[in-house]
Amino acid sequence: MRFFFIFLLFTISIFSKYLDNHSCSECHEKIYNEYQSSMHSKSYFTDELHRKVANKADAKKYDCAVCHMPAADNLQDLVTGRARPDKNNVTQTDGVSCYYCHTIAYVKKAHYHNINVLAKQNANKPTFYGGLKNAEDSDKHYSLKNPIYAKNACIGCHSFKLNDNNVTIFKATAKNQDSLGCIKCHMPKVAGGVEKMNKRNRKMHLSHRFLGIHDADFRKKGVDINATAAGKVLKVTLINKMPHPLIIQPARAKFLKIEVLRDGKTVWQNYKNSPKEDKRAYFAYSFIKDGKEIIVPSDATAGFVHNLGAKEVKTLTYNIPVLKKGDKIKISLYVQLAKSDCTKAITLKDKLLLKPQLIKNVTIEVN
Ligand code: HEC
Ligand code: HEC
Ligand code: HEC
Ligand code: HEC
Ligand code: HEC
Repeated sequence: MRFFFIFLLFTISIFSKYLDNHSCSECHEKIYNEYQSSMHSKSYFTDELHRKVANKADAKKYDCAVCHMPAADNLQDLVTGRARPDKNNVTQTDGVSCYYCHTIAYVKKAHYHNINVLAKQNANKPTFYGGLKNAEDSDKHYSLKNPIYAKNACIGCHSFKLNDNNVTIFKATAKNQDSLGCIKCHMPKVAGGVEKMNKRNRKMHLSHRFLGIHDADFRKKGVDINATAAGKVLKVTLINKMPHPLIIQPARAKFLKIEVLRDGKTVWQNYKNSPKEDKRAYFAYSFIKDGKEIIVPSDATAGFVHNLGAKEVKTLTYNIPVLKKGDKIKISLYVQLAKSDCTKAITLKDKLLLKPQLIKNVTIEVN
């Protein structure tokens, strides 16, 4: 009996370590609701694009888990193929979880991708890193300001990734780039206290919506488009205002559609059928294996990316028909969350993933 009791205590103290996302909503309701609408709350089970690519990449091993399901209590088993994702395990369905992010102590630079190192936790009450020096502890957790946390919070997963053949799958940050900038743009201050008691009457908190390319208003802010036209020459300048490349996800394509409109009709366009025809204005990754183009990059032996680098300014020049007064030139930047080529490898139910979505457009009028 005594043995049984000790065993029980031991298991409870292990399992009480992880506080799931939903448990935070009791006190951090606003932050929880924001987070629920973010891509971080998505997991293998709820992100169709990710799940289909992952299953295609490897039907046994789920090594994507280190970034996509990092809080899993059986991470090693998932990564090595001894276990498959289980939708009844909350440490898996939580995705990039509150608990996980708030316990990152530092980031180890590594070859294939960086590695988050989590702070060792008190078995019964975890310590969460935040920004406030003297944040109160709650009855559920301790709080601590750790500047290393804010400097590294995004770098463990978002920096870069190579496959086993040393081919770059994505690269978003420069060598010594920290995450203070990422937090400024992607977690702006918004109205409302940090938790419901709000004893210190805090008026603002950092948004946990983690807005990105999925949000129609936010995605307008990444790139400026300037254009000038004279006679039959059109110059289009793209200005990347972001400290990361335009393309940092190999499933995506971002491209320009340029139309010259006369009396409401299109008299010229930069491509006929597919935006890929205008190579200079089609931004995407492509991967090669055995001399052939492949879609899922996990076993690629070579990779290329046509990109707009961090803060890069690029001018594209086009020969267009001689302009007349009243002509309009419409320049639109689009994103395909899953580029058309993806359909060669996977079938997607959510058609919005393939449909080009407007990032922004400008129209100039000839007078
Ligand atoms: C080093 C960390 C890391 C690893 C390992 C990783 N990913 Fe990702 N993945 C990310 C990050 C960060 C994003 C978000 C990037 C973005 O939106 O540009 C992402 C986004 C994606 C997306 C886009 C999801 C969407 O809905 O828009 C797909 C698809 C994807 N990953 C597939 C995979 C697959 C398949 C694997 C395993 C073979 C994998 N990833 C392994 C970090 C990683
Ligand atoms: C029982 C209520 C309660 C629960 C549940 C709770 N917290 Fe807290 N949390 C607080 C209080 C109170 C503070 C202190 C706020 C302050 O001092 O202004 C706090 C502070 C924090 C801070 C530090 C804030 C800062 O500005 O530095 C973080 C990070 C945090 N909580 C994360 C979490 C996460 C993640 C969860 C869920 C796993 C969670 N909390 C669950 C009550 C709670
Ligand atoms: C544990 C790994 C991990 C950490 C740490 C992390 N992310 Fe992510 N992030 C991801 C993954 C994985 C995705 C894609 C999820 C999906 O689509 O299923 C993602 C998606 C995003 C997106 C959504 C982009 C879009 O497609 O709209 C943004 C923005 C983002 N992360 C910003 C951040 C910021 C800012 C930080 C640091 C505060 C951060 N992330 C920390 C793994 C991580
Ligand atoms: C100056 C503001 C700014 C900063 C700083 C910034 N971003 Fe972004 N980021 C954006 C905007 C705007 C978008 C959406 C537009 C786009 O992707 O074309 C974006 C898009 C993204 C995406 C989604 C891209 C995709 O196609 O799926 C991820 C992931 C991301 N950022 C991560 C980061 C990380 C990590 C950092 C820090 C190294 C960072 N961002 C710093 C403004 C910023
Ligand atoms: C992708 C990583 C990530 C995830 C996931 C995440 N947070 Fe945060 N959180 C941060 C960062 C970064 C900060 C800012 C820290 C700073 O100010 O230095 C922050 C700040 C906070 C704060 C303090 C807010 C403020 O304005 O000072 C609280 C409370 C908090 N998070 C709770 C949560 C809860 C609850 C969840 C889940 C519902 C969650 N976080 C999910 C990265 C994350």
